[in-house]
Amino acid sequence: MTSTPLTRDAFVERYGRYFGVKRIEAIRKLNYLLIEAKGEGPYVYDTEGRRYLDLWNVGGIHGLGHRNPAVVRAMEEALRGEDFGSLFYFSEAKARLAETLARTGPPGLEVSVPAVTGSEAIDQAIKIARGATGRTEILHGDHGYHGVTGFALSMMAPGEMRDWAEPLVPDFRAVEYGSIDSLERAISERTAAVVLEPLRTDYDGRAPKDDYFPAVRRLCDEHGAKLIVDEVVTGMGRLGRLWGIQRSGISPDMMVTAKGFSGGLFPMAAVMLRPGILDFWGDNPYRIISSYAWSNVGASVSRAAIEETLRLLPSANAMGDRLAATLEDLAARHPGPLRSVRRTGLLYALDFRDDLAGAFFVMGMFQRGVIVVASSQNMAVPKLYPPLVLGDEQIAEFAEHADAMLASLG
Ligand SMILES: Cc1ncc(COP(=O)(O)O)c(C=O)c1O
Repeated sequence: MTSTPLTRDAFVERYGRYFGVKRIEAIRKLNYLLIEAKGEGPYVYDTEGRRYLDLWNVGGIHGLGHRNPAVVRAMEEALRGEDFGSLFYFSEAKARLAETLARTGPPGLEVSVPAVTGSEAIDQAIKIARGATGRTEILHGDHGYHGVTGFALSMMAPGEMRDWAEPLVPDFRAVEYGSIDSLERAISERTAAVVLEPLRTDYDGRAPKDDYFPAVRRLCDEHGAKLIVDEVVTGMGRLGRLWGIQRSGISPDMMVTAKGFSGGLFPMAAVMLRPGILDFWGDNPYRIISSYAWSNVGASVSRAAIEETLRLLPSANAMGDRLAATLEDLAARHPGPLRSVRRTGLLYALDFRDDLAGAFFVMGMFQRGVIVVASSQNMAVPKLYPPLVLGDEQIAEFAEHADAMLASLG
């Protein structure tokens, strides 16, 4: 820490080279350089005292607000009493988290496999599906985002995010997300797993029709394929329930959680699965090793995050209705740039007329101190992932800036 405020320029000059000069310069050119000083509730502050209303929250890592007090308390307590622990050993903290997951998750998912990040957990789930079925083909929704490790990246749509790392893992195939016909044509006795999000978060924020997941479940059962649901973004309250798939009434064979599962404080992820799936490991229980997976401290943090999510959800859902009304009002008043607004639970997708308008909105809001996000796959659809602690004051703050930005877009 330095005693004088570390301005953006001073940061680049002093430390830029340690992060890659070209990379830092590219971020600076985008006007998207933020040197974080602290986070509190729905806000992030930079080193020059600027305050940002955070409606991205890294897709849900800070879904309970930055430094949520209940989670901070749980972490402080754990640090006083717990050792970090070892991946080979068990503890009461880990057991209580696994039990909480089994009790609050979709029926039948009783077993947890620990991991650190979402990408890693997705990779584990796919490997387990291949091992359990003895098959190799993985079907996944098109334009999904499942992470950056080998198996996860193999599901990324072709483009700048993946092409440079090819060749990727073989036998992955995209099906049209939300189309049961597309899955029906592709699935076969070769299919090890079907990987889907409850809602296509990164691309268009579009939820499938109500009959989609029951039909996916039926097709997986008919063909003996495992259904893996990626809840990295849609879990931990984002879709108005603890887990997004709970809206559909079906249970997958495996479910992956990360991001908000960390409580915003400690990297944590998990694959939850049906008992029996791991039986193919036989007598070797050490087939997946991840040194930092599920420390005792992290386990206490995640359990507190689940409890806090369940406590906050009723008021957050009511807040979500008020934010939805505000967005509808903005869309009605600015139909030129903002064609429509989609909402599922506490996830909002704003349909702009084109990529340029979407990008202009995201960047302009950032300059005004409001963080919203689009995706590398679709700049025309910025998204809001508000924290569950958002209040009317922040909704008004967002509305004021969004109104000005939309007016300037004409
Ligand atoms: C839906 C989804 N799955 C998986 C991941 C990968 O998670 P992580 O960044 O923790 O590796 C992400 C990350 O953004 C995601 O959005």
